Amino acid sequence: MRTHYCAEVNETHIGETITVAGWVSSRRDHGGLIFIDLRDKDEVIQLVCDPADNVEAHKLAEDVRDQFVLVATGKMRARGEGLENPKLKTGKVEMVVDSLTIENRSKPMPFELNDDKVNEEIKLQYRYLELRTQKSYDVFKLRSKATIAARNTLDELNFLEVETPIITKSTPEGARDYLVPSRVHSGEFYALPQSPQLFKQLLMVGGFDRYFQIAKCFRDEDLRADRQPEFTQIDVEMSFCDQEDVIGVAEKLIHNIFTKCDFNIPTKFKRMTYADAMENYGSDKPDMRYDLKMVDVIDIFARCDNEIFSNIAKDTKVNRIKALKVPKGDEIFSKRQMKGFEEYVRKFGASGLGYFQMKEDGLKGPLAKFFTEDDIAAIVERCELEVGDAVFFGAGAKKLVLDYMGRFRIYLAEIMDIIPEDVFEFLWVMDFPMFEVEDGKTKAMHHAFTMPELDADGKIAYDDIEDLKSVAYDIVLNGTELGGGSIRIHKEDLQKEIFTLMGISDEEAQEKFGFLLDAFKFGAPPHGGFALGLDRLIMLMTNSSSIREVIAFPKTQKAQCILTQAPSPVEDEQLKELSLRIRQQTPST
Ligand code: AMO
Repeated sequence: MRTHYCAEVNETHIGETITVAGWVSSRRDHGGLIFIDLRDKDEVIQLVCDPADNVEAHKLAEDVRDQFVLVATGKMRARGEGLENPKLKTGKVEMVVDSLTIENRSKPMPFELNDDKVNEEIKLQYRYLELRTQKSYDVFKLRSKATIAARNTLDELNFLEVETPIITKSTPEGARDYLVPSRVHSGEFYALPQSPQLFKQLLMVGGFDRYFQIAKCFRDEDLRADRQPEFTQIDVEMSFCDQEDVIGVAEKLIHNIFTKCDFNIPTKFKRMTYADAMENYGSDKPDMRYDLKMVDVIDIFARCDNEIFSNIAKDTKVNRIKALKVPKGDEIFSKRQMKGFEEYVRKFGASGLGYFQMKEDGLKGPLAKFFTEDDIAAIVERCELEVGDAVFFGAGAKKLVLDYMGRFRIYLAEIMDIIPEDVFEFLWVMDFPMFEVEDGKTKAMHHAFTMPELDADGKIAYDDIEDLKSVAYDIVLNGTELGGGSIRIHKEDLQKEIFTLMGISDEEAQEKFGFLLDAFKFGAPPHGGFALGLDRLIMLMTNSSSIREVIAFPKTQKAQCILTQAPSPVEDEQLKELSLRIRQQTPST
């Protein structure tokens, strides 16, 4: 219907007659003249309807309202002196409308389209209207570019794009499964994949050597700003490789995606061990855009006169005493604020939060009296304190202290407003532990198919199961886990041993993963890979505050699609076909 997209129109078209099509973003009636801003996918053009030029078009324009769909033909002319709009590509020109068609009318918008403060439920109910905004279009344009760049890069690197099943058997990644009842096999269920993990490993056994997929994954888990029940991974697997090969592919992939989207990032990323990340930043995904690094002061506190601290300091394996220096903290924060920080960490289980202030005449604070002069000097030196700094201490069980001090670090950075925007700080976090023990249950930290660190005899060796490392790595961007991967187990015995350590019986392993264990009997090659969260990647690239902004039709925090009203009840007939009956939920069940 159109001859030009709005963004293509400029001064070179002056004098030409062209046709544009789109939605009315505003309309101004200046007595005789009517001005219409017409917007297509990514630009606005000004239409002028002058009764002196065309009575009929002007009459129609009187009827036009916001978001009506128009096709307009007319001659381009230069805008009047002082009437140019430098913000628009079309800002120097306007169309004198010769013919106007109203292709469709629109009810008034249920919300102000470009208002960020509008309630999200309303926006999601009319998601297609929000998609009509420039901001949304830009997000999806970038998403498309990034996805195409990913595909092209992996193609160039000889990866084969393969689709794996959606209705399948459970692929555990630590969340609950979404289940699909089978009609043909009554009482039986498929699961939607939490990731294509097991199938991509089977493709390696199948000899494909290098696989990738832009894969939909499904996880029934608590939702957060960077989580959706249905999300997309750039999923990669390769054979006959070591960790460096996999990391090399991931770096090349990420670098190409960013470059194609006009961002400048390094070709190689920094690395840190999991242990260092936890000890220094209290997180396995530290945000490296700012410093605020913790230091260990447990040896100094061991000598202090306060029994609470000296007792904690007795067990350096189980406990931690960590100091977090805040440069100029004493100048920035009032005493009341410093005390208030204690309330913050208490929410995460801390029993308190000690602090010192570095004054002209030395280190001061409620704890100072418990330390000798030498130890005060040792704290100043260890924490590299200068006049005006503040330093906070967390003491207690290792996991707890690292967790709340890590959260406190982020909280401080946010309230101090020291997080630079528009920078990308990548970090590989390496050498993840194989397992974590929670409530007495041994769980795989990455997943159960990850290669544990083996000793010289090729065996698993550890004193404490939580100290056993794995060949697993995460890629972190600005404090968000962007992706992760590992070298996999490719031998049946080792895989069975891992299942056993996780408390999975042989029968259960056979029932759930028998197909994988069987495949390992038939010449499975060494292999490894990774997956990047595509939605998270786009969220970070577009500086979006929520993952929902970068998904065309996202779910709410309660995992609902407000637009289509899913999930929703089904007909009794459908339930019957599936041999299902709904149990009425009562408060006691
Ligand atoms: P993992 O579970 O770490 O690894 O997932 C990889 C990446 O997927 C993204 N992601 C999510 N994004 C949005 N919403 C979610 N609910 C969600 N869950 C995960 C994250 C995450 O880093 N099979 C392994 C990969 C491998 O070992 O190759 C896996 O799925 O960005």
